[in-house]
Amino acid sequence: MFTIFPAILEAPVRESLLGRAIAERLLEVRIHDLRTWSTDHHRSVDDEAYGGGPGMVLKPEPIFAAVESLDPDRGRVLLLSPAGRRLEQSLVRELAGEEHLTLVCGRYEGVDERVIEGLPAEEVSIGDYVLAGGEVPALVVIEAVTRLIPGVIGKEESHERDSFAEPGMLDHPHFTRPAVFRGMAVPEVLRSGDHGAVERWRREAAREKTFRNRPDLAG
Ligand code: ADE
Repeated sequence: MFTIFPAILEAPVRESLLGRAIAERLLEVRIHDLRTWSTDHHRSVDDEAYGGGPGMVLKPEPIFAAVESLDPDRGRVLLLSPAGRRLEQSLVRELAGEEHLTLVCGRYEGVDERVIEGLPAEEVSIGDYVLAGGEVPALVVIEAVTRLIPGVIGKEESHERDSFAEPGMLDHPHFTRPAVFRGMAVPEVLRSGDHGAVERWRREAAREKTFRNRPDLAG
């Protein structure tokens, strides 16, 4: 992973699911400072945009040098950008099947287009909103992919039930003790011990929730 703000990424990958996956050697994450590959005395990695306009553009040379410093088996090269292909669980599954991934975090107003064309790099967006840079999106990609690495999540079954495990369907609602909280009762069927009935209730509740929260998926 290449970034001009390595500190944004270093702490999060040490915690929780990612930290555990790394400790158990199910995942390896290398965070590199793009400035290592800058070629001038100011360690600059950006420059003004051709054609004018506000904001700086990440230069191609340091990015090419950085990515090319990796083994040829660097895997797919992803450039995090709001102008990319939108990340969905189907793409996460595809990426989880790869041995190596190289992530380049965009910044400022953009990245020289020749990075996309020449490396080549695939632009990936985590959604239709604009963040300050690709660091948080890179973490999103890594965490979503890591969950699918065998052994990372206790029960393999828990991804089968995830929202989006089934295309166009969100996860069903969940409840734990107490059975009644502030006057709100857990649906009786979930406490009945009737597994068939529980399964039917969950399917219907997932369908209702999808319809309510994501009518675009419910189709
Ligand atoms: N950089 C800034 N916004 C982004 C987004 N939504 N997805 C990926 N990278 C980004």
